Formats: sequence, C-alpha cells, structure tokens
Amino acid sequence: MDSITLIRPDDWHIHLRDNLALETTVPAAARCFDRGIVMPNLTPPVTTVSRASAYRERILAHTPYGSNWQPLMVLYLTDNTSPKEIHAAAESGFIYGCKYYPAGATTNSDSGVTDLTKMDAVFEAMQSVGMVLQMHGEVTSDDVDIFDREAVFIERHLRPLVAKFPDLKIVLEHITTQQGAEFVLNASDNIGATITPQHLLYNRNHMLVGGIRPHLFCLPILKRDVHQQALIKAAVSGNQKIFLGTDSAPHTQDAKESSCGCAGCFSHHAAIEMYAEVFDQAGAMDKLEAFASTNGCDFYGLPRNNSTILLRREPWKIQAAVPYEDTQLIPLGAGTTLNWMLVE
Ligand code: NCD
Ligand code: ZN
Repeated sequence: MDSITLIRPDDWHIHLRDNLALETTVPAAARCFDRGIVMPNLTPPVTTVSRASAYRERILAHTPYGSNWQPLMVLYLTDNTSPKEIHAAAESGFIYGCKYYPAGATTNSDSGVTDLTKMDAVFEAMQSVGMVLQMHGEVTSDDVDIFDREAVFIERHLRPLVAKFPDLKIVLEHITTQQGAEFVLNASDNIGATITPQHLLYNRNHMLVGGIRPHLFCLPILKRDVHQQALIKAAVSGNQKIFLGTDSAPHTQDAKESSCGCAGCFSHHAAIEMYAEVFDQAGAMDKLEAFASTNGCDFYGLPRNNSTILLRREPWKIQAAVPYEDTQLIPLGAGTTLNWMLVE
C-alpha cells in the first residue's frame, strides 16, 4: 500500500496554550485535523463558561483562512466547580467536556481537584446532561512511584467512580499502561481512551538510555516496553473505545532543556504521519481510519467529518525546530525520518 485516503481525523486532546502561542498551535492543529478537544490548563485555568467562550474567540482568531477546523472547548474542574456551571456548559453549545486533573499531577494542574470523592454533585450533573469527563488518570501521592501512578489511579479512584456513576461518559486520557488499555477495553461502552503518538512510538528506554532526552518527557511518563506493546495492540485493534488524542503540549526549548524540565511533547507538526508509522509497522493501516477519524466522534456523539486527507508513502525528515512564542520548540521526533507524508 503506497497511499491511503482517510476521513479527516480529529484530535481528542490538545494543548493550544494562549496569546502568542496560538500563532503556532492553531495552524498546526488545523493542518490535518478538523476538530480538537482543547485542554483548559491555562493560567488561570478555564474554569467557567465565560472564560471558555473568551478563550474560544482568541483561538478562532488564529484559524487559517479557508480552514474548517473547530476548537471543542473543555471546562477545568476544581474543588469549587458547581453543578450549575455544568448545566451552563451543556447549554453553551461549544463545551464538550470537563477535565479532571488531580491537583499537582502535571503542567498547570495546581487548581485541580484535591478529593475526587467530594465531586459527586458535579459528576451527577455531568451524567444527567451527558457531558464527557476527561480524566488525567494518575494519583499524586508521594508514596506512589511515578511509573505506577496510572495503574494505582485505576484501582484506587477510577473503578469506584465508574461503579458509582455507571452512565457517566469518561475518557481516560493519554493511557500509558497495559492496565489502562485493559481497563478501558473491558469497561462499558461509555468508557473510552485516547493514546498519544509518543506512547505508541517510544518507551522509557528511548528517553533514558544513552542520555536523558527531555523532549520525550511527558506525563503520564513513558513506561516500559510491554506497556508500549499493549498500547499498540489496543490502538490497532480498531476497537471503538480507543481513539486519537495527541496530547500535543508545546513548551519552549529552554523550558524543556533545563535542570527541572517541563512535561509535554509537541506533535502537531507530524501527528497523523507518526500514527501512520505505528499502524503501518503493525500491519494495520486498515484500522487507522477508525482510530483517527471515526471512533472519537462516535464516542462524543458528533457527526463524522465529510472531507478527507491523503497520506502517501514517501520518506521525509522531521524539522529540527518550530518557531514558538518569541523563541522555538523542539518537536517530537525532531530530525528523524517518517515514511508517511500528508499530501492533502
Ligand atoms: C501537558 C501540558 O504540558 O500541558 N503535559 C504533558 O506532559 N502531557 C499536561 C498534561 O496533559 O498532562
Ligand atoms: Zn494533556
């Protein structure tokens, strides 16, 4: 197979940041995707419908001419989120989910939820209006090793939550473990998961053997090889609950190449091409469209896109850097060669 046409994909988990960053991130999202679930971890976070509306306007001001790309907005849950805000979000017509960050788990998550068990009224409201809960699935307790944080979260918090709110639609975001994949595949149809390109292409050896590679550092952190293999298997299975979410999360080169580097990989320069690489290597190009273009919108109850993209087998080298804010960032896979090219 030397080319493939796909229904235009969507990205169910992106970080666009704000202001100057939007000059890079919005055109990068629109180069291939038709819609993006926009993460709300700004400073200050997008905690209300009015903040989401203002942020959406700032994003739309950067949409390239002629593009159909649409930002799908998300509310950031805090200890103080009210059920009233959830109802207002559902009625807004532009908010498609609410994001749970455990306080302190990742970049800009300090205002996140401190105790999941105190959020019952909010989850009750979300369940009643059919609002999707997007979860950063990691515990933050000091006693849990960083490589175990997802697996412990599933047992400690996610299973009890799903039992309590069986009709709540939940996306376990950017799964990174065999336990994450198995949990979602064995759960009911209203539980889905996104997978990033970095967790499919790399494992922790790529990040740590022969030198530390800060541009592969993201959260949840890359795990060992068996987990990477389990994620590939889940992604190429075609299962309707598993879909594309890049977690493309830009940080400047300086912020990453530092004694305390930020978590997050920027991947929108080549996201669909990287996923194509994974599916091709697994001999599963016929499953790429389900993963990239139909499973996600079916899960969210949104229509499928009516345009298409064309990918061609043709080697090309990923750029070394991307202009970002007043400086630059190092994109995921910088300098490496990909075998699939986005033609149109
Ligand atoms: C994200 C970011 O930089 O905003 N970082 C990351 O490592 N994935 C936050 C997140 O999604 O956890
Ligand atoms: Zn993210």
